Amino acid sequence: MAQRAGDDELYPGMRKGPIPDASAEVGEALPAEQALALLAEQIRVCRNCALADSRAQAVPGEGNAHARIMLVGEAPGAMEDRTGRPFVGPSGKFLDLLLQEIGVQRDAVFIANVNRCRPPGNRDPLRGEVEACNPWMRAQLQIIKPRVVCPLGRFALEALVDPHLKISRVHGQPLEKGGMLFIPLYHPAAALHRRDLRETLAADMHAVRALLAARGWW
Ligand code: URA
Repeated sequence: MAQRAGDDELYPGMRKGPIPDASAEVGEALPAEQALALLAEQIRVCRNCALADSRAQAVPGEGNAHARIMLVGEAPGAMEDRTGRPFVGPSGKFLDLLLQEIGVQRDAVFIANVNRCRPPGNRDPLRGEVEACNPWMRAQLQIIKPRVVCPLGRFALEALVDPHLKISRVHGQPLEKGGMLFIPLYHPAAALHRRDLRETLAADMHAVRALLAARGWW
């Protein structure tokens, strides 16, 4: 069991008590598909933070258990909260188009969010909520072992790679952390709202695909 790093004052949104170390519980022995399914069951009943009280349902993430690309957004929106699936609203439709453009099927990748529950009114997740959700991300990364992780937008970049990095500076660039390769991308919702980002995001997605091909991973 991992101990919580702080109290409610330091990490607003976090519940008191230990956060389960999900990766240890799922273990390495199960086939990846089964391990992910088991993890998803645990995420659906997670009460690590107060978002459990306001969510309709948790959104564990979905996709290929052996995905070479893992895409990680911020948190579920209204549609995701209703359906229990990630990126199924307008930004999800746009993400599907972008994937199509680089010749990648949605079911070839794994799609998740830094936060598995919708913050009320789509507000930014609190630091404590991100911390509380961390064990799920670590466990999924350990099971899937993607070649490339793409944080989508500022929030995922800060949570997964470095809180001091700016998405406007590092988008499309391969970054290494903890033995993992990250290529941050603009969030599809940002590109939906800002036309000028659409081409940048599309070009960065092509760069992800090209890097995978160049390294013989695709
Ligand atoms: N935005 C996100 O960051 N994640 C989703 O699942 C949907 C919209």
